[in-house]
Amino acid sequence: MTLKNSINTDKIPSHIAIIMDGNGRWAKGKGKFRIFGHQNGVGAVREVSEACAEIGVKFLTLYAFSTENWSRPAAEVMALMELLVSTIRKETKTLMKNNIKLESIGNMDDLPEKCQRELKIAIEETKHNTRLTMILALSYSAKWDMINATKLIAQKVKNGELAIDEINDKTIDENLSTKNFPHPELMIRTSGEHRISNFLLWELAYSELYFTDKLWPDFNREDLYQAIINFQQRERRFGKTSEQVTS
Ligand code: FPP
Repeated sequence: MTLKNSINTDKIPSHIAIIMDGNGRWAKGKGKFRIFGHQNGVGAVREVSEACAEIGVKFLTLYAFSTENWSRPAAEVMALMELLVSTIRKETKTLMKNNIKLESIGNMDDLPEKCQRELKIAIEETKHNTRLTMILALSYSAKWDMINATKLIAQKVKNGELAIDEINDKTIDENLSTKNFPHPELMIRTSGEHRISNFLLWELAYSELYFTDKLWPDFNREDLYQAIINFQQRERRFGKTSEQVTS
């Protein structure tokens, strides 16, 4: 029996979020520059997004560039931005072929204009695709998003559109940049690091976390299947007792 056949097709997580980590170490292990790792990470993005579309995952969020990544050496930041631009441009055709819609979260205003432009074009071109929504987190951090949401909510209170007592879970959800997507059921991080690193802090409240030692450029569809099978073996209790959720 192949790994894919072991997946319970009735229990596919509808939203998977991934911290794609280990590109630098992967390149270093091969005696190459870090950007070589990022370039090879693109192959893993392609494989994983195609596999997600095939098995019925509806949303895939990829942590491609964090707010904190701006403090990396300028040459690496520039190379990453160039890679993003060229990848988005090259891969739009593949997104169309696979019926994948592109979206982004994060502070787009921070990105170089060329990057913003390519992203806008690809988002516009793929907006009617329905099989999978691929969300790129770019210049994103959960704290940035939560500060932004707080400001939006405060403004509504100030304008008299919202009473303080009305603020609840839904209010926060509706003011985050992830407002159009369900919360991820599964979060995967590669490269053996066991941290959330300012990624979707609010949205991951009840997500299952899966960590693998594989470095991102080596992560393939079989690794994705393994993560989903592991997820399906867990009991999700949302704070309730085992008896409550199984009865
Ligand atoms: C983390 O590895 C990876 C990144 C900061 C960038 C991820 C970008 C890609 C996979 C390429 C572009 C992606 C898209 C969606 C077009 P790291 O550099 O932190 O590795 P290290 O921990 O080994 O140093």
